[in-house]
Amino acid sequence: MSGCGRLTFVDDLGETLRHAWACLERGVKDRRSPFHTPSVATIGLDGRPRMRTVVLRDVDPAARTLRFHTDLRGLKVAEIARDPRVALHGYDARAKLQIRVEGRAVIHADEAVADEAWAGSRSMSRACYGVFPAPGTEMEEGGAFTLPGEEAEIDAGRSNFSAALIHAERIETLYLDHAGHRRAVFDVAAGGAGRWLAP
Ligand SMILES: Cc1cc2nc3c(=O)[nH]c(=O)nc-3n(C[C@H](O)[C@H](O)[C@H](O)COP(=O)(O)O)c2cc1C
Repeated sequence: MSGCGRLTFVDDLGETLRHAWACLERGVKDRRSPFHTPSVATIGLDGRPRMRTVVLRDVDPAARTLRFHTDLRGLKVAEIARDPRVALHGYDARAKLQIRVEGRAVIHADEAVADEAWAGSRSMSRACYGVFPAPGTEMEEGGAFTLPGEEAEIDAGRSNFSAALIHAERIETLYLDHAGHRRAVFDVAAGGAGRWLAP
């Protein structure tokens, strides 16, 4: 099995976990993969669940981390500061695979990981971090915000930029198959031991 193709070893827990990581890794590189834009849930400041789409920027199965980028001024950063527990979700209809990741997020703003992430971002992506007023600010009209145009202005957005690293603790997979669905959960923080669950 290569990349995030069809799962062949459906009854092998180790293969199932490797396949899940491979699908997430593919999501980083392949813009058409549904795992390119997973949903990330945080616990809102009022205790309500809050979800949003993010772009998956990096996945490291060995370190069990997933990275996305975000504006330090956004609400999710305050939410993660208050409670770092997050969940990430994606469903790939072609691979017939749902992946749910639970873990803790760490926001990196000044560290090397953020510098590298900023250096690796395209100008178009960087420009978002110079939006004024700050993300989530109420405005009189929908278009009453500005984005930086000049390169120097775009670079100033670095102070609003952060790399969020999700440290995965638990991964759950649900693979749909005519012969019988397969649902598994893996305690990845504790060495990756997996168990089958009734679907
Ligand atoms: C396709 C798509 C990709 C997005 N990627 C990101 C992203 O990588 N990082 C991010 O902070 N917001 C991203 N957003 C915007 C978020 O979904 C969200 O609207 C915004 O970050 C505000 O969320 P917050 O109020 O919870 O901070 C994306 C939205 C869409 C539709």
